[in-house]
Amino acid sequence: MKPARYKGAWGGRGSGKSHFYAELLLEACVSAPTRAVCLREVQRSIKQSIKLLLEDKIKTMGLSSLFDVLETEIRGKNGSLITFQGLQNHTADSIKSLEGYDIALLVEAQAISQRSLDMLRPTIRKERSEIWAEWNPENEDVPIDSLLRGKDAPADSVVVEANWRDNPFLPDVLLREMEEDKARDYDKYMHVWEGHYRRTLDGAVYAKEIRAAFEQKRVCRVLPIAGKPVDTFWDLGKRDHTAIWFAQMQLGEYRISDFYQSRGENLEHYAKVVKERGYPIGTIWLPHDAEQERLVGKTIAQAMRDLFPNIIVKVIPRMAKKSIGIEAARRIFPNCYFDEEKTREGMKALGRFRYDVDPDTGGYSTNPLHDENSDAADAFAQLSLSLSAASDTKYKSIMMGRN
Ligand SMILES: Nc1ncnc2c1ncn2[C@@H]1O[C@H](COP(=O)(O)OP(=O)(O)O)[C@@H](O)[C@H]1O
Ligand SMILES: [Mg+2]
Repeated sequence: MKPARYKGAWGGRGSGKSHFYAELLLEACVSAPTRAVCLREVQRSIKQSIKLLLEDKIKTMGLSSLFDVLETEIRGKNGSLITFQGLQNHTADSIKSLEGYDIALLVEAQAISQRSLDMLRPTIRKERSEIWAEWNPENEDVPIDSLLRGKDAPADSVVVEANWRDNPFLPDVLLREMEEDKARDYDKYMHVWEGHYRRTLDGAVYAKEIRAAFEQKRVCRVLPIAGKPVDTFWDLGKRDHTAIWFAQMQLGEYRISDFYQSRGENLEHYAKVVKERGYPIGTIWLPHDAEQERLVGKTIAQAMRDLFPNIIVKVIPRMAKKSIGIEAARRIFPNCYFDEEKTREGMKALGRFRYDVDPDTGGYSTNPLHDENSDAADAFAQLSLSLSAASDTKYKSIMMGRN
């Protein structure tokens, strides 16, 4: 294999990643004296490492006469060395012990933290040293994914996708496991076996709804109906995001064609973004805090009316409980169509909007977690309440408010 600073293989279970790197590592150690370290984020004992796999490979590859297998390491007769370590056991100081290594193999690299990756990369610094990684993708923000599959991936990297279909050795027992997962939980199958990013996190509030949206192909191309105004639904934040969904309601369907969020910008910025989208601007729906005196002399609602002189600006009364908004969202979700490209960031946040963990029981509480995903979710709840109010008397009273 040609030299490269980074050699990565990602993919689902059973794609042969572990076996592939085990063989590659042994071949490297046989062909020249090589110091290699196999690293996991957490390694409590040597049993959690790939040492046993390497021992088996040494036998099946007929290399037994070339290696000494010791308790915690494998030594080559030619001076090669393979060790097994957990990155979390290392400090910025102790990691320096790895400076003389030629190869660092990151095992199950989706679990490797940013801290560990940041410590390791400058440590593996020998001339022509290489960092190898194998992993099952979790989501695009995981450190190894953003390093090796992100838009700024190092130039000197070779990254391949591995798939069980390409594994000629796939045992029947794994194939059966896979078929079972596929029949029982397609989303899980796509993640675990096909190596797709998870669409929703564990405990995601809208896990079922989002899965259904994808299965029913309601995440697709959604163009606004020409000539019909596009309403916007806002959640306002200063330090948090300001999140905006763009939608039209047509014959009972919610056509959600766009999404925008950012933080730390002023109102003019967001108004400009909405205008520059070029859609005929429909009603602007703001959350209750738009009525609070936040800006010099006027409320956000007033400022918005000044920015959009001929547009209706409505303020949605405060929801007594978050669960009211969540319930409203669940009700409209089956009738929602999302533009795959333009709402991608919003869908990502919806898939990560999740219930908090109850410290007493360790299970999920009924309250959603406030984090970087909740602003988009709150704005979506505004959309759900507002639009469902148009067709559903149950919410009319909530909507009567001051507008
Ligand atoms: N080179 C190989 N030689 C023999 N069996 C292999 C080889 N590669 C993969 N396999 C078989 O396929 C299974 C899955 O491979 P593995 O490397 O564990 O996949 P992954 O790490 O991608 O989940 C292994 O348990 C083994 O039975
Ligand atoms: Mg593996």
